[in-house]
Amino acid sequence: MAAENLDKIVSLCKRRGFIFPSSEIYGGLQGVFDYGPLGVELKNNLKRLWWKHNVYERDDMEGIETALLTNRYVLRYSGHEKGFADPLIDNRTTKKRYRFDHLLRDQTPEVRLTLAQGFDVTDSEDYESVALALLDEPTRAEAALKAAKVIDPEDGKPGDWTEPRAFNLVFKTQVGPVADSESFAYLRPETAQGMFVNFKNVLTSTNRKLPFGIAQQGKSFRNEITPRNFIFRVRELEQMEIEYFVLPGEDEAAHEAWIQDHLTWWVEKVGLKRENLALFEHTKLSHYSKRTVDILYKYPTLGFDELEGIANRTDWDLGSHSKEQDSLGLSANTAEKAMRNEHSTEKLTYFDQPNNRHVVPYVVEPAAGVDRGVLAALCEAYDEETLENGEVRVVLRLPPALAPIKVAVLPLAKNKPEIVAKSKEIKKMIQASGDIRSVYDDTAGIGKLYRRQDEAGTPLCVTVDYDTLGQSRDGGTELVDTVTVRHRDTMHQDRVAISDLLTYIQAHIR
Ligand code: GAP
Repeated sequence: MAAENLDKIVSLCKRRGFIFPSSEIYGGLQGVFDYGPLGVELKNNLKRLWWKHNVYERDDMEGIETALLTNRYVLRYSGHEKGFADPLIDNRTTKKRYRFDHLLRDQTPEVRLTLAQGFDVTDSEDYESVALALLDEPTRAEAALKAAKVIDPEDGKPGDWTEPRAFNLVFKTQVGPVADSESFAYLRPETAQGMFVNFKNVLTSTNRKLPFGIAQQGKSFRNEITPRNFIFRVRELEQMEIEYFVLPGEDEAAHEAWIQDHLTWWVEKVGLKRENLALFEHTKLSHYSKRTVDILYKYPTLGFDELEGIANRTDWDLGSHSKEQDSLGLSANTAEKAMRNEHSTEKLTYFDQPNNRHVVPYVVEPAAGVDRGVLAALCEAYDEETLENGEVRVVLRLPPALAPIKVAVLPLAKNKPEIVAKSKEIKKMIQASGDIRSVYDDTAGIGKLYRRQDEAGTPLCVTVDYDTLGQSRDGGTELVDTVTVRHRDTMHQDRVAISDLLTYIQAHIR
């Protein structure tokens, strides 16, 4: 049985050491989480799979790692200083704060209709448009919210609402010893900008020709108004993003190709069922986007929600970060709406040799959340299986490539020194063979150890017993130097010669 709600996943993550609330012994820090011993392995495995697919297995990609501390002008000209804001509202009675559009989404259709009519919004079910209309007239909005009896989900009663207002999500931090209004930098809210501002560096240092892309994985920071749903919406997040640069005119086909490629990747490599994924075509586009399609995953409790966004950002980004924009032949939208850049020292252009012209490339951007990927992988893999004896075992059916531990070596008797020594020797041998993460565990009886490894998603358990030592009860020695290998998903057991063990393991964890 799959997890019917997120609480099951949260509880497994804490119990088995995947994910913990950050700074927990001091009461935690809202929207911030730590990855435990199993979590860090799972997360690294997901990132490794992504990097292999998007960088190593292609011939048109370069990897990069840019700084988290970001020059203020990067975020000025990217538009984040002005535009990276969510609407928020407070209830004076409950002291609860909400994302305003989410508050409207959670009202009855009648309440939304009353508000929409008061602000000339035709589609009252389009809660984002209703929120935008009210944000434009905050004072009138405050009265309208009261009159419409907008309910606070906290206590189910009409709230005493403040004016709704926009709240910028970018974190600022002081740089250097003097705290004045000028000595600050931003913590990046996305990994993307580091790739745009390094476009020329990568282009010239690698001699790339279009089309080519830059990939980056790493932390980003967003001061989310209401971080919630475990690691789904956090303030310190990790992203895996690609900026794929193409000649104008080649953008639409490249966009479609990335959508299909990544949809397939989530299914084939991460193991998400196709029916648990959906494509969402944005109808309301960001100012920079020509087309955006989200890949949604059906998270328990949340339903379908965003896992990855794939946008055609045209020449917006490279155009915005360039000097002398008027000379660049930018697309009409970018030329009209991008801020005049007074600080950049570069024109982020590409010399299109066959046509003997300088162009500002268009960008296609597949942008996924690592934490949301980890959460999707955990939700998909979680299974409660009722065994023949009525016992329920929790098993994480992760693809072996994602499993934090590939092989657990377990001694049948921990008080038998030869069995313990042989088990540790086998664990060392497996680990020495490369990056097959293996562990030795003798802290419980064999049944309990199997259950623990099932919950951790370990595909194989190797058990060393008396037969391995040639000390079988019936005096037979035919099983000497063999071990039992138990499979997580089927609980099927094979007897394998130690000399064949590595080959056997490699064949079963691919
Ligand atoms: N450069 C484009 C960009 O950052 P985005 O849709 O804001 O686009 C990309 O973010 C992905 O990052 C999302 O699809 C989501 O998976 C993840 N993400 C964004 N905000 C997040 C948050 N607060 N917590 C966890 N993941 C988040």
